[in-house]
Amino acid sequence: MRHTPEAARITLKSPQEIEKMRRAGRIVAEVLDVLVKAVEPGMRTRDLDTIARREIAARGGIPSFLGYLGYPACICTSLNEEIVHGIPGPRVLREGDVLSLDCGAIYEGYHGDSAVTIGIGAVSAVTRQLIDTTREALERGIAAAVPGARMGDVSYAIQSFVEARGMNVVREYVGHGIGREMHEEPAVPNYGTPNRGIQIRPGLALAIEPMVTLGDWHTQVAADGWTVSTLDGSLSAHFENSIIILEGGPEVLTSRG
Ligand code: MF3
Ligand code: CO
Repeated sequence: MRHTPEAARITLKSPQEIEKMRRAGRIVAEVLDVLVKAVEPGMRTRDLDTIARREIAARGGIPSFLGYLGYPACICTSLNEEIVHGIPGPRVLREGDVLSLDCGAIYEGYHGDSAVTIGIGAVSAVTRQLIDTTREALERGIAAAVPGARMGDVSYAIQSFVEARGMNVVREYVGHGIGREMHEEPAVPNYGTPNRGIQIRPGLALAIEPMVTLGDWHTQVAADGWTVSTLDGSLSAHFENSIIILEGGPEVLTSRG
């Protein structure tokens, strides 16, 4: 077998490591559950960050985003045309907004990383379709991540599902391997070609995170250096789960109640 540089840097997790990743994933899932239940119109996004900081600590976790490349918060809150990496702050949530909540935590040296997108109060039918399509795209990607498949199969499962609904996948940001680092090899693109890329194997831990837009897939970064938005201002949604590939198929490490 030929070893690409990427394949050579992939680490497969031992059963002991997988147990720690389950704990980290559970912390992230529980914190996201608390956040989703706490969200109300009139709240500021920084209120959600305050809750996340407390809830991660209460479970013995360390917030992985805080200080990462200088990132100033424990979660990302990305609204409407913002795709990912929105910084919590004084912005007030309004009925009809689309909010991506992204959370990461470290437990005994291992990372969990997950995101969910929700509508604030009542949202339009097309907004609901965007959110539902992105959630199902993540499910399709996970279902394709079985031993013997290749990364291109996972990417294609996501892309083909989204594009069949007339929406687009972001290309400029991708999912990633996860473990002792938040971002490990391999990259997990949300677009790709079946039967290409690295082999999906037992012990591989991935953060799969489709980012979907109602318009074009090109992005721009705000003056804050973090917030990624659609270039055309179209609405965007984002879901992410951390998973571990087992002999029998993928196990979701960040599945929520
Ligand atoms: N879930 C995001 C990712 O996988 C987290 C960004 S972390 C931040 O890239 F620290 F940069 F915000
Ligand atoms: Co991630």
